[in-house]
Amino acid sequence: MFDRIARRYDTVNTVLSAGTDAGWRRRAARETALRPGGSALDIACGSGKLTAELARLAQGGRVVGLDFSPQMLEIARRAQPLIEFIEGDALNLPFDDASFDASTIAFGLRNLADPVRGLREMRRVTRGRAVVLEFVRPPKGIVGAAYRVYLKTLLPVIGGLVSGQPSAYRYLSDTVDSYRTPKELSQMAAEAGWSDVRFQMLAMGTVGILSGAG
Ligand SMILES: C[S@@+](CC[C@H](N)C(=O)[O-])C[C@H]1O[C@@H](n2cnc3c(N)ncnc32)[C@H](O)[C@@H]1O
Repeated sequence: MFDRIARRYDTVNTVLSAGTDAGWRRRAARETALRPGGSALDIACGSGKLTAELARLAQGGRVVGLDFSPQMLEIARRAQPLIEFIEGDALNLPFDDASFDASTIAFGLRNLADPVRGLREMRRVTRGRAVVLEFVRPPKGIVGAAYRVYLKTLLPVIGGLVSGQPSAYRYLSDTVDSYRTPKELSQMAAEAGWSDVRFQMLAMGTVGILSGAG
């Protein structure tokens, strides 16, 4: 599915989030507390937008983007020729323990067959902070209700039209009921052995940043 949507992926994100997704990734990158010369791994990096934010903070330190979709990686390498991108599985990271100062995963955790295992792998390869940027279950009340309507009606239509892949964007809205609450995400991180777990809400409670010590 990700191979099929790769070419239009960034455009669809910008349209569907009205351009706000770039700011979410910047916030997630800052949450890693990465310093110049530091190292970071961006898991399920897709087209490499968050990887590029990490590279900006690391200023010459080693930053790696990892994804299992060859098409996504091709787009990432073309957009960020100076960054190292590798093909790999988030559930079996091809790195030794404590290889990186920080690690991130943006809008990828939801897609993993075993998310707790993914979080455990992040912790294993990370010396410092691990950060997850993810959609969360729409909040109760008027904002949540409006957002749910948007997800169920407008999003699949617009996403389908811009990407030419309607089924991929139906998937995004069909899975909204399986989006996790902030509490569930924090519990999963604790189960995976993360400590000092923090959670912050963005975009009126529809997106969250989970972080913890790796
Ligand atoms: C919704 S995209 C997010 C891309 C990017 N992180 C972003 O912020 O736009 C999800 C990405 O996760 C990747 N992915 C899903 N499962 C994976 C796995 N087990 N290992 C590596 N990459 C995976 C997909 O190929 C896709 O590029």
